[in-house]
Amino acid sequence: MQDALNAQVLIEGQSSQVYLAMASWAEIQPGIDNVTAFFYRHSDEERMHMLKLIHFINERGGFAVIPPFEQPNLTYPSIHHAFKELLKHEIMVSESINNLVDIALTEKDYATHNFLQWYVAEQIEEEALARVLNDKLELIGDDKGGLYLFDRDVLNVSVASGNPE
Ligand code: FEO
Repeated sequence: MQDALNAQVLIEGQSSQVYLAMASWAEIQPGIDNVTAFFYRHSDEERMHMLKLIHFINERGGFAVIPPFEQPNLTYPSIHHAFKELLKHEIMVSESINNLVDIALTEKDYATHNFLQWYVAEQIEEEALARVLNDKLELIGDDKGGLYLFDRDVLNVSVASGNPE
């Protein structure tokens, strides 16, 4: 279980790097300040997910291993591509969390199983949000007015309604 949790430390940390690279790329594109802020915020959240795992592993008597990270993809042809990649990445993370839940159940590690429920819920939300944003971008296409509104609202899109709060 410890090895599997440490593998998840890497995945969450790598996710933070991937979204940090998206943020840095978005920051030098004109007119998408809120998309930029969205990616920076998402990167911070992934770092928090990593830290939560690190503390859990250490508090349970294990040792959280801080891994090296790969160079993430640095540029994207469009924000549509970046958000598509974000959704793909979150689906991969969800699969990895589900796999951890399987291991916890197989090993009858109920404390870890309980701990992982927070991640299960988080992934449902993150995937749903990524799908809502991708759906919006698909509708917008290359329409500049639509992209302006997307950037204006992106920080306030809620999963439940898919509309700005
Ligand atoms: Fe912590 Fe979005 O995966």
